[in-house]
Amino acid sequence: MARKKLWGGRFAADEDPLFKEFNDSLPFDRELLEADVAGSLAYARALERAGVFGRKDRLAVEKGLRAVLDEALRNPQAVAESGAEDVHSYVEGALADKVGALALKLHTGRSRNDQVATDLRLHLKRREGEIAALLDGFLRVLGALAARHPHAVIPGYTHLQRAQPVLFAHYILAYGEMFLRDRDRLRDALRRIDVCPLGSGAISGTVYPVGREELARDLGFASASANSMDAVADRDFALDFLFFASALAMHLSRLAEDFILYNSSEFAFVQMDDSVSSGSSLMPQKKNPDALELLRGKAGRVYGHLVALLTVLKGLPMTYNKDLQEDKEGLFDAVRTVDQCLRMACRVFEKVSIREERMRSATALGYLNATELADYLVAKGMPFREAHGLVGKVVMRASELDVPLEELPLEEYRGFSPLFGEDLYGCLTLETVVGRRRERGGTAPGAVRQALAQFRKRIGRG
Ligand code: ARG
Repeated sequence: MARKKLWGGRFAADEDPLFKEFNDSLPFDRELLEADVAGSLAYARALERAGVFGRKDRLAVEKGLRAVLDEALRNPQAVAESGAEDVHSYVEGALADKVGALALKLHTGRSRNDQVATDLRLHLKRREGEIAALLDGFLRVLGALAARHPHAVIPGYTHLQRAQPVLFAHYILAYGEMFLRDRDRLRDALRRIDVCPLGSGAISGTVYPVGREELARDLGFASASANSMDAVADRDFALDFLFFASALAMHLSRLAEDFILYNSSEFAFVQMDDSVSSGSSLMPQKKNPDALELLRGKAGRVYGHLVALLTVLKGLPMTYNKDLQEDKEGLFDAVRTVDQCLRMACRVFEKVSIREERMRSATALGYLNATELADYLVAKGMPFREAHGLVGKVVMRASELDVPLEELPLEEYRGFSPLFGEDLYGCLTLETVVGRRRERGGTAPGAVRQALAQFRKRIGRG
């Protein structure tokens, strides 16, 4: 059914169909339908407080709105095909079919400007809550992965060169910290989105005593907005989400990249589950880590949405401008993408298998205990800088002979410094190298055990 415009009064000529297609937002803002109905339900109660609606009117409008929502949920196709300009026009038109003129009264003192800002906040706040729960779930998956392999060691890398050995759990908890910061960012976004613009009117506030604080509370917001112009012009809450989403996507991408490398036959530290891998149409031997590659790749579109909205907002004159309608598609896509990525990441990291023996043997190559040898000389009184240079030479000699430091004979060591004694070999074992980093934040088993316990507390699992 074609709907009447909300604003036809001052127009003599009809809309150009091309303009209609260009201008209409219903194809994407119908995602806000539930929020729009919730906003209108609360606004009907506010109008009763203001004396615009009698009790009976309000009850009739409420009943009508619930029926509109019901029908829309049952038949979304009918909404899509209604030809309405946007979700607000659709709801108003469908309500008018049920309750007649009362539907038109519902817009008293309200503008689509404060309405759309309210709808978007309501909708995004709910989705943020859902994403927070998914992120909590993923943090638990990471905690469980670390806990499953308390003794595994892995080479730690800088510049993608083997640097120092660390516990696998320590490495996983490094990502845990990153995702905990993402959780903080999301909580922050949730705090700032919790403000209700409704009752700001088009720009300057409302003449009807709707009781804005009550209206805000009725909709589950913590407070009513402080400035009517800011209320209709602001989309910072959407940026907050997009920045959170970008940081999260970036962290997922880094984690995915590590595991793509570790899953390759060159590393072979981990093995992806068949259920989240795919094959090649040509090469029968292939098993590709597609889930991880997509987790890495999705970051691009999320960043894109952040930059797009920043760019839309830049240079916008106060207050509402139609440019703001461009806030939605990217935001909705970012919400869906992050939601899907978190679900996928849970699945992938629940099912990944860890090849502890491969990781351990990789720590034996590449002189990962060289720092420990320098510390040995420091303990014997040599300044660290000097020890660093000397051990560099020792490493050069050992690689000439193609042996690890623990297999270089004592006479060789003595040739470099008389400080070297038989006890140096005790310093070079993996257990010593890992086990001596006992201070908070280090990789010694005791420190990591404590860190894991702390981590579990922080994610809400004591
Ligand atoms: N579809 C519009 C949007 O998303 C709703 C607000 C329209 N307001 C206006 N004054 N034309 O921004």
